[in-house]
Amino acid sequence: MQEKDVSEIPANNQRRERSQLAFRGLLAVLAFCGFYQFFHLFPCTMWSEEPLSVSFSASTDSTDELLCPLYDKIEFKDPDTSVYILHDDEFRNKSISRLSKAVQIPTWIDDEGSDFTRFTKFHEYLETEFQRVFDAANVFKVNTYGIVLEFKGSNSSLKPAMFTAHQDTVPPGDPQNWDKDPFSGLYDGTRVYGRGASDCKNLLIGLLESMDYLLEKGFKPERTIIFAFGFDEESSGKYGASHISKFLLERYGPKSLYHIIDEGFGVFMELQNRYFAMLATGEKGYLDLGIEVLQPGGHSSIPPDHTAIGTMSKLISRYEDRLYDPILVNFNPTLNTLQCIAEYADIEKSLKRDILRAHFDEKSNERVIKLLLNNKITKYNVLTTHAADIINGGDKANALPQNVTALINHRIAHGNGFDTIMDRVTGIATGVAQEHRMGLIVDDEILIEPTLAGSIKIKALYKLAVAPVTPINDEIWASLAGHYRTFYEDITYPEKFEDDVLVLSAGIMTGNTDTRHYWDLTDHIFRGQPGFTPMTSGVHGNNEYVDADSHLQVVAFYYNYILSIS
Ligand SMILES: *[C@@H]1O[C@H](CO)[C@@H](O)[C@H](O)[C@H]1NC(C)=O
Ligand SMILES: *[C@@H]1O[C@H](CO)[C@@H](O)[C@H](O)[C@H]1NC(C)=O
Ligand SMILES: *[C@@H]1O[C@H](CO)[C@@H](O)[C@H](O)[C@H]1NC(C)=O
Ligand SMILES: [Zn+2]
Repeated sequence: MQEKDVSEIPANNQRRERSQLAFRGLLAVLAFCGFYQFFHLFPCTMWSEEPLSVSFSASTDSTDELLCPLYDKIEFKDPDTSVYILHDDEFRNKSISRLSKAVQIPTWIDDEGSDFTRFTKFHEYLETEFQRVFDAANVFKVNTYGIVLEFKGSNSSLKPAMFTAHQDTVPPGDPQNWDKDPFSGLYDGTRVYGRGASDCKNLLIGLLESMDYLLEKGFKPERTIIFAFGFDEESSGKYGASHISKFLLERYGPKSLYHIIDEGFGVFMELQNRYFAMLATGEKGYLDLGIEVLQPGGHSSIPPDHTAIGTMSKLISRYEDRLYDPILVNFNPTLNTLQCIAEYADIEKSLKRDILRAHFDEKSNERVIKLLLNNKITKYNVLTTHAADIINGGDKANALPQNVTALINHRIAHGNGFDTIMDRVTGIATGVAQEHRMGLIVDDEILIEPTLAGSIKIKALYKLAVAPVTPINDEIWASLAGHYRTFYEDITYPEKFEDDVLVLSAGIMTGNTDTRHYWDLTDHIFRGQPGFTPMTSGVHGNNEYVDADSHLQVVAFYYNYILSIS
């Protein structure tokens, strides 16, 4: 991949006006509510004034040549029950009440020092409300508050299929900023409100509801089904998912699971009467970098030319002056998102050509990158980011700071690695250290001996590689695509699909979920859930909600999907 300085790339306006009208339609798809990483940036209606004319060119051809094949629908074993779940009033009421009660029990956590005992009440609620499910399962409480439910299958040669969600939520913030009480679980006829309503008690309760209903109808799986619910996803899963992962590795072994489907965005996207679904098959990487600038103390009346604060400022400012070089490698799931749009939507010809050639033609690749960079959301799919998030140092007006610390957070793009970051930071820090005649220590290795002027210390505090990308050229993907087609085309929105199809594409998550702990269990990890509620729905902010219809789609889809694969 060719390296390119971002400053060469026109930021927006003139160039965009000239050549990218059609691309705005494409960005509309990318920026549409369905994409996890785009939450709280754009309201769903933002793009609707920009009509995207579309027609199906691909569906009648042989799918062999397509980069985004259309898979056959898969017949549901019990379609009527999914229809019933979606439309029966009594079921709806019960389902909403179950979700609402779950939202009413606070399970928020703060990074450190969380009060996990509040999960006891949540467990009691789940065990009472879903007694049939807990009775039928082998129940494991992992590290006290993690919940693993195992529904043992009769055929041990079938790999267990796992479904996950987390019990915890982020804190409610100031209730004054909410229109409704964050723990009301209020239902206004369309939506259920409250902290965790869409991230992700809706999924957790939805899975339990689908299993409850399956069991009521006499479900006896051949394939083992596992539900795993961590309790600190919002602070990186170190007590929940990481322990659950160890437990499952001991019980089943490495790469022993059929798949894991975790929380994610509502998969269903509608744009100018065209329909796409997206499941995230990859996550960006992560690196928290700690920097310490250590300089001798002393009286402020006789300072050095640069205090430790000045040195730190220079370092951060130089680092921020340039973005990382954008990169779109073939294994970046964003490429598949684009390919699906290019193959199924009617977009401008040259753009379509560029997208479909981007995986082998360097010039096309560069042009696609430029377009992605022009949008303040899509650019993060091809950029390693840096954000100086914490800085501390200095005590008194008359004392020189001796130890200034900072934390810089990074999200690593596909195709970049820890080295990309460490090399660049080390390069910049070497310059600053030399100018100030200071030492430099990177990850405990002394690169320049500390001097009387002090030293700069850099260390990776927490890091997580770019997640292994889930394959999409296999039967598991074809099965998901087929089930989603049946679910949306025939069961949920038959009126929308009279002469249309639902295309499933892979995609990327710029954040990380509990699945970071599950890589050893399977190569087939997906993030995304039935429904359409956008992540603009107050997730991590105020007035979080879920559409009741979205919630029912979780129950209705998983009821038949689990029945079908087990
Ligand atoms: C469902 O709840 C609504 C609102 O509370 C109520 O009006 C309706 O009668 C309920 N329907 C059933 C079938 O219980
Ligand atoms: C168990 O599953 C395997 C793999 O699909 C299949 O070949 C075998 O026939 C199944 N055994 C029974 C008893 O159904
Ligand atoms: C500098 O301060 C940080 C944060 O308080 C601390 O972890 C670190 O040990 C200090 N370094 C030295 C050399 O005192
Ligand atoms: Zn979540």
